Amino acid sequence: MRRLDGTTAIVTGASSGIGAATARMLAEQGARVIGGARRVERLETEVALALDVTDPESCRAFVDTAGPCDILVNAAGLALGREPFDRSSEEDERAVFETNVNGLVRMTRLVLQSSLREPGHIVNTGSIAGRWAYPNGATYIASKFAVRGFTRALREDLLGRDIRVTTVDAGLVETGFSVVRFRGDEAAAKAVYEGTRPLSADDVADAILYAVTRPTHVVVDELVLMSIDQSSGARVHRRAAD
Ligand SMILES: NC(=O)c1ccc[n+]([C@@H]2O[C@H](COP(=O)([O-])OP(=O)(O)OC[C@H]3O[C@@H](n4cnc5c(N)ncnc54)[C@H](OP(=O)(O)O)[C@@H]3O)[C@@H](O)[C@H]2O)c1
Repeated sequence: MRRLDGTTAIVTGASSGIGAATARMLAEQGARVIGGARRVERLETEVALALDVTDPESCRAFVDTAGPCDILVNAAGLALGREPFDRSSEEDERAVFETNVNGLVRMTRLVLQSSLREPGHIVNTGSIAGRWAYPNGATYIASKFAVRGFTRALREDLLGRDIRVTTVDAGLVETGFSVVRFRGDEAAAKAVYEGTRPLSADDVADAILYAVTRPTHVVVDELVLMSIDQSSGARVHRRAAD
């Protein structure tokens, strides 16, 4: 695996789950990692900066302070609620789109315009929710379809530049994600993974590291990762308890 010594990586959403695991693995591979999240006290990166991707001023200050970088991993994201669309709220819809779509697009634009060196690499954490719909997740699903569309468009617009773009689209991953989705209800969050062998944050970070450490002319365009117990957005096999 190619070492990343001498490179700088920005990881958004580095305070938990996939972002935290990715930040750690990039650092182990030699990168200087700048992590961003709202809960700055949870960041364990070499450089830890407060970042709220929904706030343009926060994003601008983050990118200015971070300085030049070679890798951007857009891992900040969330889902809120798990109900049929006609029972969902506009407030949740705004938060999800502001974070997953506008926040990711905003950070990508700022980094591209002011700090990404070439050869550079942008990695988006999409989701299998950006490939298949499942019941009771319309807002989140729509946001991840948008991320996939944006990633494809970015590949087109950056053709001819020395900038790779990758989307890593995972299925069930056991992180803080479901606790946030169920607003702190740990039992409801746990039930999502019950009877399955879900992916871990490290499994997804490992896939991101794979993409980043290929030779710089090799683009890992899309990586789709699922647990052995999942076959699509809506189909999960639950094993009986022993
Ligand atoms: N878990 C899954 O099953 C799964 C599957 C496929 C894709 N994904 C995607 O993977 C990404 C990471 O999720 P995860 O599973 O690692 O969940 P997680 O453990 O809840 O981590 C989410 C991260 O996003 C950050 N974040 C949320 N809102 C933010 C904001 N406004 N500004 C800056 N950072 C913000 C959180 O930090 P703060 O709260 O400290 O700001 C946290 O570090 C998300 O985009 C998610 O959609 C997850």
